[in-house]
Amino acid sequence: MSGNLRNDNRGARGWTPESWRSFPIRQVPDYPDVAKLEVVESRLGKYPPLVFAGEARRLKSALALASEGKAFVLQGGDCAESFGDFTANVIRDTFRVLLQMAVVLTFGASVPVVKMGRMAGQFAKPRSSDTETVGGETLPSYRGDIINAPEFTADARVPNPERMEFAYFQSAGTLNLLRAFAGGGYADLHEVHRWNLEFAARSPLAARYQDIAHRIDETLGFMAACGMTSMNTAQIRETDFYTSHEALLLPYEQALTRVDSTSGEWYACSAHFLWIGDRTRQPDGAHVEFLRGVRNPIGMKVGPSMDPDELVRLLEMLNPNDEPGRITLISRMGADKVEQKLPPLLRAVQRSGRKVVWLCDPMHGNTVSTAAKLKTRNFEAILQEARGFFDAHAAEGTWAGGVHVEMTGQNVTECVGGAHRLTEADLGSRYETFCDPRLNAEQSLELAFLVAEELKARRLPLGQTPAIAAQ
Ligand code: PEP
Ligand code: CO
Repeated sequence: MSGNLRNDNRGARGWTPESWRSFPIRQVPDYPDVAKLEVVESRLGKYPPLVFAGEARRLKSALALASEGKAFVLQGGDCAESFGDFTANVIRDTFRVLLQMAVVLTFGASVPVVKMGRMAGQFAKPRSSDTETVGGETLPSYRGDIINAPEFTADARVPNPERMEFAYFQSAGTLNLLRAFAGGGYADLHEVHRWNLEFAARSPLAARYQDIAHRIDETLGFMAACGMTSMNTAQIRETDFYTSHEALLLPYEQALTRVDSTSGEWYACSAHFLWIGDRTRQPDGAHVEFLRGVRNPIGMKVGPSMDPDELVRLLEMLNPNDEPGRITLISRMGADKVEQKLPPLLRAVQRSGRKVVWLCDPMHGNTVSTAAKLKTRNFEAILQEARGFFDAHAAEGTWAGGVHVEMTGQNVTECVGGAHRLTEADLGSRYETFCDPRLNAEQSLELAFLVAEELKARRLPLGQTPAIAAQ
């Protein structure tokens, strides 16, 4: 307890890991068995943290570089991870598509790419409605596997706190494999050819990817001749890979919030990076209160309803000392709104002189419903929003710091368009998401190529960094 007391003096003013409980909260499940909830919270509170504060600090430094235009961020993974999809293949395939995208982006941007998975903890989902009605029957909405189950039965939809414990163990297992891949040889740059998934190898993009892979081979050969090999150079052999998710289910997040023994400060230890969703970013709300007190790098979704003054106010609350790398703003406007809505926000942040990283989430503003009532996204709209994001930054002289995507390494058919021109009629064949439609491996790679081209087109001569107002 003494550690906690000592920290209370050092933390954000008036903040404790449970101070969010006295703020208005949205998107919370109604647990019928409160006693069981408390038992699970207390068990989780004793389990080991999933990440170490030093790792979160390292990520914050990498993001600080991105806020200065010296790095680019790739954040991607499932809309919602699921208990049923917890296999080595699913984890590996998402990881390797992210590695492929990172290689393509590194070539385009000529700056380091910071890699974050929406993985190992991305379970809780905000919903637009508390209930769902099918054939005259109304049940509570599915809120992600950490809360209830997707089947449309009354039993499945009851929020069950024990699911938090399963989510914790699944996150630990996923993170363990990711760490093994990142540090154990799978991410060695010599493996760049093998990251190609079999079906992606047959795609029109395969030749473009192979071209980059060959250039990397040549470079590695040259470096080996100069004495730099996987054996003696960690940067060739391994990569930094970070985990992230929306900090929506606060009882779970609180239970995993710990005092770092090195610095005496509070860290959320369920993932390296947590973000606030577009539906829970009220300045006087519980989610903002919780995240303001942990020292991790954090994100905030910024949708079309965000007001420029409110954005600056939120930055002041969440990052009073304007610490570089602390805040990442994830713009998700929609292809038809980005041009109008983003520039005033870029300007407001610039005028405030505050340091942030801007990411483009071209997914969440572009969800549409098909005639068959499936949620989908059109690849063209996704590309259009990404282009609009780059254009807005170019016009304001700010750095377009990265992309945030919902994707999977599986060969799903959830978003229409892309190199294989998937149509609405194709969606039925492998529509597997429990929540939002994801880019498949090929569409993800295609997006990476497009973003790389944008970056290349806007690249400054070597040694120059973009004009950034905060500098
Ligand atoms: C999400 O990222 O899955 C999500 C729900 O996004 P947003 O908060 O931007 O709607
Ligand atoms: Co989503």
